[in-house]
Order: sequence, then structure tokens, then C-alpha cells
Amino acid sequence: MEKITLTQPDDWHLHVRTGDILKQVIPHTARQFGRAIIMPNLTPPVKTVEQALIYRTEILQALDEQSDFEPLMTLYLTDNTSIETIKAAAENPFIHAFKLYPAGATTNSDAGVTSLKNIYPLLAAMEKHAIPLLIHGEVTAAEYDIFDREKLFIEQHLTAIINNFPDLRVVLEHVTTEEAVQFVESADPKVAATITPQHLMFNRNAMLVGGIKPHYYCLPVLKREKHRQALRKAATSGNPKFFLGTDSAPHFSHLKENACGCAGCYSAYGAIELYAEVFEQENALDKLEAFASFYGADFYQLPRNSRTITLSKQDWQIPENYPIGEHSLTPLKAGEVLSWRMAR
Ligand code: DOR
Ligand code: ZN
Repeated sequence: MEKITLTQPDDWHLHVRTGDILKQVIPHTARQFGRAIIMPNLTPPVKTVEQALIYRTEILQALDEQSDFEPLMTLYLTDNTSIETIKAAAENPFIHAFKLYPAGATTNSDAGVTSLKNIYPLLAAMEKHAIPLLIHGEVTAAEYDIFDREKLFIEQHLTAIINNFPDLRVVLEHVTTEEAVQFVESADPKVAATITPQHLMFNRNAMLVGGIKPHYYCLPVLKREKHRQALRKAATSGNPKFFLGTDSAPHFSHLKENACGCAGCYSAYGAIELYAEVFEQENALDKLEAFASFYGADFYQLPRNSRTITLSKQDWQIPENYPIGEHSLTPLKAGEVLSWRMAR
């Protein structure tokens, strides 16, 4: 049996929600990952250090007692975030970044930033206090085609942010296009990107050919094949600017199988196994450890994990769903077979 042993990975982009969903999903992540960057787009959003510490406690309480999984908290940036909040976040050992959602870009982004120019003083404070900015990089104006929104955000906003704040550490989250890959590759080393399993595995046909498949709908939306190929090349290139971030985003199945379905793919149940499949297909299993376990920690200036995990070549079937009370979560690739499995 083929086996690979890796330094324990971390998930640098994760949604875990609260309440019953949190209790179902957090053990899935903690089984594989040492740490995860926890996204703050709750309702209401996590905007202050105090709110983030309360949320952190709820996450820790949802974990097994023996678990040493560490949630790395983030704050939700708004037009009204104060400079004091930025300073307090940067000084707090449990808070690791601010997340910028352009208002209206995605799930629970209504409280997001309405004008990037207005928050330049906040970006200056983040640069000064050395706390990273994580960006959902899509323009939101109605006239823009949904498939162009990431590329336009880079042209209209990201280039200016990076030029104006050369010392600000920036992660362009869940990149989906060749243009984003090229932009990050040619930017300063302070600019990095996360890549999700769904954007490595699927193009937009998966979502739209043969009937609408809502469980492939996420934001930024899946793109055409040439973009998927660019992402696979970037992830397996050994370039430290690209690292693992699942964007695992649980929504109840009935809210995705809906006339107005929610955006998000649930991948936490088997994230490292999904990435292993991609890296094997690219003949790049030797590059998986650095992508999953080194580059993100290095970017966030945190120590790499000291434990290891082992994956074996072993077929297993992904459940059709994970029940939560009277509802359920449908995982990415529900009912399909994965060929790598993490040892317990
Ligand atoms: O598909 C997505 N789901 N994209 C996001 O940016 C947010 C996420 C969520 O919170 O559900
Ligand atoms: Zn996300």
C-alpha cells in the first residue's frame, strides 16, 4: 500500500459557522488540520476583538477535549472599523488578520466595505501594525459579468492597494483565474493566494452541463478550463505564494437546492484527501507538503506544525450527506470515491 507522511497541514481559509453546524463541521477540520484561519462572515459579523474571542471560545467548546486544534481568528472589515480596533487586533495573539469583503460580493457580505478608497486609512494602519489583509477579490457592481469579477477587481482595486501599501501583507483568497495567478506570481513576496479544492478539480461545466448542480456553486464562481489548468500549475509549482485554503463553506442542502441557492462547497470532511488526488494527477505529490503545511505558516509568520499525518492509497466512498438535526450538509463530490485516505 502506498503511503505518504506529511507535516500536519493547516487550512488558511475556513468557514465553520456557529451552533449545530459548527458542532458537525469542526471535528472534520480538526481531524486533519492543526490550525485554520476562521472566516468572520457570521450574522452579525465578527467585527471586534471581543466578538472574535467569544467566537473562538465557542469553537474550542465544540471540539473534543483532547483536540489541540487551534482556531486562528480574523475580523470582518467594514467602512466603520476603527484604527483602535486594528491596533487591538494586531496586538492580540489570537487574531491573525482582517477580512475584506466588498459589500454584496458573497454570503453575509452586506456589512462589507462599500468603497475601497474610504478604507485606505485602515489599510495604512494594518500595514503599520503588521496585520495581514485577506481579500475576497471580486467587483460587485451589477453591470459586471460574474465570470469577469475577479479579473476586474485586480485591475480596478488590487493593483492600487498593493502599490499604495507596499509593506502590507495581502492574501488574495480563493483565486480562480489565470489573471489572478499571474498577478500574484509577479507581485512582491508580501502578496500570496489561497487555492480551494473545488477550483482545482472542476471547471464551470461541472456546475452547468446536464442540469444545474447547486453543490458546485461557490463564489468566486467556477471558471473555464484554462483557468483551472493555471490554478493546478500554480498549486503544484512549489511557489511559496500559493497555499492551501479550502474555503469549505457549509450550507444546509435545502438552502443550496433552492430557487436562490447559497454559495459554498463543503469540503472539510476530506480536504487533504481531495488535494492529494489533484497533486497525484499532476505527478506532484512531492509538492503537497509545502503547499499544505509550510507556505501558509511561513506567510503568517507562525511556526510550522511539528506533528505529522499519514495518507494511504485506499478507496473510500464520500457520504451522500451529513445529517444535522432534520437537515443535512451535502459534501463536495457526494457519493463519489476518493483514492487517498488519512489514517486515524
Ligand atoms: O462560496 C462561498 N461561500 N464564497 C464565499 O466567499 C463565502 C462562502 C460562505 O461563507 O458561504
Ligand atoms: Zn470564504
